[in-house]
Amino acid sequence: MTQSYEQLLRISIQEVMSGDLPSNGDASADDQTSSRTQPTSATPEKPAVPDDFPSNISQSNSAPVATSSETLTKVRDKQVDEYSSQLSPCETQQLDKLLVSAPYPAAVSIDALKVIQARRGWVSDASLSLLSAYIKVTIAELDSVATFYNLIFRQAVGEIVLHPCDGISCDLMGGIEVRAAISQRLHINPGETTPDNHFTLIPLPCLGACDKAPVMIAAKRVHQHLTVSKIAKLIDGLEENSK
Ligand code: FES
Repeated sequence: MTQSYEQLLRISIQEVMSGDLPSNGDASADDQTSSRTQPTSATPEKPAVPDDFPSNISQSNSAPVATSSETLTKVRDKQVDEYSSQLSPCETQQLDKLLVSAPYPAAVSIDALKVIQARRGWVSDASLSLLSAYIKVTIAELDSVATFYNLIFRQAVGEIVLHPCDGISCDLMGGIEVRAAISQRLHINPGETTPDNHFTLIPLPCLGACDKAPVMIAAKRVHQHLTVSKIAKLIDGLEENSK
């Protein structure tokens, strides 16, 4: 999948960092980032089929083992279509909880998008439409919010999204080489997803941890003081943990 990562990213760094990402890697447990709590699943982790997924379509979620990127794409598209047919009970429950304490529906837009993404991995047009109908906020409004915030994905992403920082501080501390090493290791460019659908690479501007540069957000953690030599082990570890 080739796409400009600028298309995927319109980020608010505050959103990233207030998204409560604990630190990892060289980070100590008491690092400033560790006290934050991950938001939803911005949490776009493994978009596995949730337990409470509508029963009328549950059977088809037993996706066969894909043997090629083409098959994986088809399987994913099929799942997306099924996810798009209706909101799950868990989703509506979470949305109701948001709406009940909101002064007006549009106020929950970001959190509502997070609810959708947490369970589906990203926010498709169909999902946006379902959400719009449910919370009574126009599709255009929701889309403008979704495309403004970099951590809301409007296109399908891999199971793990790598966000290496491409800010100036990180670049001065070796970030350029680190990003090149990631691309080399995964054989993808920024904005692309690996054929096995495990990783999507989306660099972000300053992540607010310049003193720990170069840094990368991945799997809800901030990995800091990265070096080229750490990349292979880090990616292998992320892949292992995702299984
Ligand atoms: S430039 Fe990378 S965290 Fe600030």
